Amino acid sequence: MNVFYFANLLVLFFLLNVQGSSIDENGYLAYCPCMGRFGNQADHFLGSFAFAKALNRTLILPPFVEYRYGEPKSVQVPFTRYFKLDALMAYHKVIPMEDFMDNLAPNIWPPGNRTAFCYMARGQEGSSCNAKEGNPFGPFWDTFSVDFDHSEYYGPLNYDTHHQDMASRWNQQYPATKFPVLAFTGAPASFPVQEENRDLHQYLVWSDHIMSRAIDFIRSNLPVGPYIGIHLRNGADWTKACEHIAHSPNLFSAPQCLGYRNELGKATQEMCFPTHEIITKQVKLAVKEYKAKSVFVSSDNDHMINVLIKALKRMEISVHKMPNPEPHVDLAILGRANYFIGNCISSFTAFAARERNVNGLPTGFWGFPPNRGSKLKHEEL
Ligand SMILES: *[C@@H]1O[C@H](CO)[C@@H](O)[C@H](O)[C@H]1NC(C)=O
Ligand SMILES: *[C@@H]1O[C@H](CO)[C@@H](O)[C@H](O)[C@H]1NC(C)=O
Repeated sequence: MNVFYFANLLVLFFLLNVQGSSIDENGYLAYCPCMGRFGNQADHFLGSFAFAKALNRTLILPPFVEYRYGEPKSVQVPFTRYFKLDALMAYHKVIPMEDFMDNLAPNIWPPGNRTAFCYMARGQEGSSCNAKEGNPFGPFWDTFSVDFDHSEYYGPLNYDTHHQDMASRWNQQYPATKFPVLAFTGAPASFPVQEENRDLHQYLVWSDHIMSRAIDFIRSNLPVGPYIGIHLRNGADWTKACEHIAHSPNLFSAPQCLGYRNELGKATQEMCFPTHEIITKQVKLAVKEYKAKSVFVSSDNDHMINVLIKALKRMEISVHKMPNPEPHVDLAILGRANYFIGNCISSFTAFAARERNVNGLPTGFWGFPPNRGSKLKHEEL
């Protein structure tokens, strides 16, 4: 047996050992989507996706972090439950975290040699990244039995790879040979999503599981014909968030309608927490304009079904919600509506609006532009 044959056998053995996943010698990038719920995590995903592409590292797709009522710890849901892997691959190399941990981590990221990356020391101790301190930080990494052995403070480097030579600085400071995995305590991305990364939404395609539930709902519940989708963000936490609107003219996802530099005005209370009057007026106008047969409502709290039925009575329009709303199915239904009215400040709305934009479908926002209310009043007179 010659040496080359033996070497080939070794390579073969190694490939089999990692069950077909070949190793990316340019390294990997992992992070905990530790901020906010789905809408925020999706914004962060788009930025992380762009960042991994700029560094040419494989992005390890983290599970989504979800919070279930009454459960003290976050629940981790595999990325591929909601989105198609192939569609993401069209932009950049990715691997689900479950696959990475099962097949690759034992070789290239073994226990005992795992470094957490953070901008600077965090947590109570203040002497390390404390990547697992608090919820969802601890439960997230515990899902994969990950403990960290070192901390690396990467400041003053940042994630904006669009305006500086940031990617090459990262790769110089943290070459894949020495740091095969960059594991971040939070997403290496800004919130809301950076303007340059919004278009990456085209690679987020709903899984068959989510899509078929949305299509089933539409087919079996909505009358044949155009429908208007609306998002009502009105839970108790939102009342509190909207109190800050006067001091935060571009709060949360507001750049989606106001522009990233407030080119189109400042956020208002009517945009953040529209009155019933504003909502029913805008819905009526949209129903007329799109000759809609029904309205589909998604909400975190009050769907306003009876208010809307009453307001639309004379137009013979039916009003619908899912009997047991699931946010991702709601989003897929909103994404297919002939017209959508959402909350400009909300990242949940922002998700639907971006998806619709990819498909060339129109979106409006409550109370925006600000003079719309008076225009409507005028038209009704
Ligand atoms: C990026 O990494 C892949 C391997 O995963 C490699 O084939 C490709 O040449 C790299 N691209 C650049 C621009 O370095
Ligand atoms: C940790 O990983 C680095 C880079 O891959 C390697 O040089 C070092 O020997 C490893 N240390 C241990 C204790 O495994």
